[in-house]
Amino acid sequence: MANLFDVPQFIEDAPSLALKRENDDAATQAVVVFDNVGKVFADARGVPSTALANVALTVTRGEVFGIIGRSGAGKSTLLRLINGLEEPSSGAVRVNGVSVGELDERGLVTLRRRIGMVFQHFNLLSAKTVRENIALPLKIAGVPKASIDRKVDALLELVGLSAKRDAYPASLSGGQKQRVGIARALVTDPDILLCDEATSALDPETTRAILALLRDINRRLDLTIVLITHEMEVIREVCDTVAVIERGEVVESGPVWRVFGDPQHDATRALLRTLVHDLPADLAERVKPVHELAQADDARILLDVRFTGADAHEPDLGALAAALSVEGGRVNFVHGGIDRIQGHAQGRLVVSAQVRANADGTAQTQIATLLERARRYANHVEVLGYV
Ligand SMILES: Nc1ncnc2c1ncn2[C@@H]1O[C@H](COP(=O)(O)OP(=O)(O)O)[C@@H](O)[C@H]1O
Ligand SMILES: [Mg+2]
Repeated sequence: MANLFDVPQFIEDAPSLALKRENDDAATQAVVVFDNVGKVFADARGVPSTALANVALTVTRGEVFGIIGRSGAGKSTLLRLINGLEEPSSGAVRVNGVSVGELDERGLVTLRRRIGMVFQHFNLLSAKTVRENIALPLKIAGVPKASIDRKVDALLELVGLSAKRDAYPASLSGGQKQRVGIARALVTDPDILLCDEATSALDPETTRAILALLRDINRRLDLTIVLITHEMEVIREVCDTVAVIERGEVVESGPVWRVFGDPQHDATRALLRTLVHDLPADLAERVKPVHELAQADDARILLDVRFTGADAHEPDLGALAAALSVEGGRVNFVHGGIDRIQGHAQGRLVVSAQVRANADGTAQTQIATLLERARRYANHVEVLGYV
C-alpha cells in the first residue's frame, strides 16, 4: 500500500489553515477541540431551540472517537460542526489548532478536503461507476487523470473492491457500497474521517467487516476517526474514547473501557442496556425480595457481581467463591460473562450463594457479611433477591 502515501500533494493548502496557533492544541496532539460549544436552531415556527450546550471535548490524533446518544440528542450537529457544515452559536470548534468559524470560503473548502465524511445511506451517484464515484472529489479539484487513476486504484485495493471498479452502485451490496463511500472519503488524503451512522443500514456481519476496515485504516493511515452510532457494539469494537450526549449536553466521556465498565450517568446506563446480560426471564420470575426471607428456610440469594475493568488483574473466581461460601455452602455461577475491552476484563456475573434463614433475622446479617466479603473481589456487588 506504499503508493497510497506516494501520491503527490495535489491540493494546495490554503494559507488560512496555516494561521498562527494561539493555543496549545498542537502540543497536546488535539486534532479537534470543542471549546464550550453551543448551537441554537430556530424551529419550524422560528422559536429558538438549543441543540447543543456547553460542549467541551477533545479528539486526540490517531484515535477512534465515538459519540453515542439517543435520536435527536445532537450527535449529527456535533459532527457537522467539525467540517463547518454548521456554525457554533457560541464557543469555538478548532481543527488542527484553527478555529473553523474564522475560515473564509476558501479555507472551508480546504478544511473539508482534510476531513472525509461517510454517511449512513452511502450517498453514491447511481449513474457513475465505483471508480468514478471515488474519483469525483479529485476530478472536481482538477487533479490530472494519471494521478487520479493511481490514487483510486490504491484505494480500491485498500477497501477490497478492486474487482468491482467498473460496477455501478445498484449492483453492489450494502457493505460494498459503504466501502466505496469510505474510499471516496479517503481520496483527498484527509487527516480526519467523520462517520455518521456509517453501519446503521448494514447487517451485523457486514457491520463487523466495515468496522474492521475502519480500524485497519485508522492504524495504517494514522487517521483520526470520529464516529456516531446508536449501536453500542460498534463503540465497544472499534472506539478508543466515547462521549455520551443527552439533550445536547455531554453527560459522560472517557476511555471506552471505563465508561462502559462503570457508567456514571443514567443516559449511559440506558444506552448500554443492550449490552448488559439482563437477568433471564425464568430467573427474574422466581426471584423474591430478601425482606421476605424470614419465612424461608435454606434460601439461595442471588448476587449481581460487576467487574468494571479498573483493576489490573482479572476477576478471581476462586477468591470470590470462597468469600461467598458460608460454612462450605455451594456457590453457583448462574448467568453473565466477562468481555475484554481495550485489555480490561469487565462484565457481570450473577451468582447464587446459600444462606440459612431464621425468623430472628440471621439471614440479613449473613447477607451483609457476604456482601462485604464479595466486595473485596469485585467492583460492585448487589443483592438481587433470593430464590
Ligand atoms: N438544520 C436544523 N434546523 C433546525 N433544527 C435542527 C437542524 N438540525 C438539527 N436540528 C435539531 O437539533 C436537534 C439535534 O439534532 P441532530 O444533531 O440531528 O440529532 P441526532 O443526530 O443525535 O439524532 C434535534 O432536535 C433536531 O431537530
Ligand atoms: Mg443524526
